[in-house]
Amino acid sequence: MKNSQDLVPLGKTDIMITTVGVGTWAWGDRLFWGYNGSSYDDADIREAFEVSLENGANWFDTAEVYGMGKSEGFLGKFLPSASEEVLVATKFFPFPWRVRKKAMFRALKKSLKRLQLNRVDLYQIHTPLGWWSKPKYVSTLADAVRAGLTRAVGVSNFNTEKTKLANETLQAEGVPLASNQVEYSLFDRSIEKNGLLDYCLENDITVIAYSPLAKGMATGKYGLENPPPGPRKRLYPPEKLQQFEPLITLLKKIGAEHGKTPAQVALNWTICKGTVPIPGAKNAKQAAENLGAMGWRLKPEEVIALDEASDLPD
Ligand SMILES: NC(=O)c1ccc[n+]([C@@H]2O[C@H](COP(=O)([O-])OP(=O)(O)OC[C@H]3O[C@@H](n4cnc5c(N)ncnc54)[C@H](OP(=O)(O)O)[C@@H]3O)[C@@H](O)[C@H]2O)c1
Repeated sequence: MKNSQDLVPLGKTDIMITTVGVGTWAWGDRLFWGYNGSSYDDADIREAFEVSLENGANWFDTAEVYGMGKSEGFLGKFLPSASEEVLVATKFFPFPWRVRKKAMFRALKKSLKRLQLNRVDLYQIHTPLGWWSKPKYVSTLADAVRAGLTRAVGVSNFNTEKTKLANETLQAEGVPLASNQVEYSLFDRSIEKNGLLDYCLENDITVIAYSPLAKGMATGKYGLENPPPGPRKRLYPPEKLQQFEPLITLLKKIGAEHGKTPAQVALNWTICKGTVPIPGAKNAKQAAENLGAMGWRLKPEEVIALDEASDLPD
C-alpha cells in the first residue's frame, strides 16, 4: 500500500511535489558512493526507483555530474515504465570552462537526451561557481523556461545573499525562483543559523534538503563500533561519531514511540522545519524506509527535543 501522499507546492509554481523526493547521486557514482556493481547494482537501483513510486514519491533529483551522466541515464531508462507522472529535477554544473550563457542550453539539452524527456520539471544551477550567480547568467534559467525546456528553475548551494539576488533577477524576468537545494539535517543546521532558511520560507522558495540523513549517519547504523566506509570515514571521524551518540539514541527512542525508524524520524524533522528532503536510496529497502517519513508528523515537543539534542558544537 502507498504511504499517504504529502504534497506541497514547489515554490510559487503550480507543481505539486511530495514532501519526500528521492536523491539519485549514488546511482552510478563510483568515487563517493562506491557504485561498482558489487555492493549495489543496476537491479538494486531499478528496484529503488520502482519502490519509491510504490511508496508515494512523485519526484527524483539528479544532476548531469552524478556518475558522469549515469544517474540521468538510469532515470531515462526507468521513466517510460512508470504508470503515473514522475517529476524530474536535474542540475547544470558551472565548470570553469562554461563561460557563456549558451553553455547552459547545451548542457540542458544533453541532460534531456539522457533522461529521454522533452523537458524537465526543475532545472537548478548546482553551485554558484564562477559567473553563475551573477544576474546575467542566472537569467539564463528564465530563458530555459521560456524555451519550454523546464517547467521551473532553482539554485543550489547559494548563500542568502546570492539567493536574494537570484530571486530578484528571476522576478524581474517574470519567472519565480522555485527552490534552493542545500545541505540540511539534524547533523548540519547551518541554514537555520545563517538566515537562509528564514529567507526562503518568507519568500516561498522551497528549501530542498540534501544529505538529509547526513549521508547515512542519521539511520543509526554507523557509530564508533561501525564507522562509515570510504570517503565518509574522513567526514565523520571518531570524535564526531561520539558526539552524535546522544542524538542517535533520541532518534531511536522517538522512533520507537511512533513505530518509525531513526531515519524516518530524522527526515520527518526536516519536513517539520518546512523543508523538503531528498534522501538517497541505493536499494528497495532504503527507498521504502525513507518514503515512510511521509504521511505523519512529529509532535512539537519532539521537534524541540531533537533541536536541543542536535545543537552540537561545530
Ligand atoms: N546539490 C548538491 O550539491 C548536493 C550534494 C549532495 C547531495 N545532493 C542530493 O541529495 C541527495 C541525498 O543526499 P546524500 O545522498 O548525500 O545523503 P543522504 O540522503 O543523507 O544519505 C544517503 C545514503 O545513506 C544510506 N541510506 C539511505 N537510506 C537509508 C536507509 N533507509 N537505511 C540505511 N541506510 C540508508 C545510503 O548509503 P549506505 O548504504 O552506503 O550507507 C545512501 O546512499 C543526493 O542523492 C543528491 O540528489 C545534492
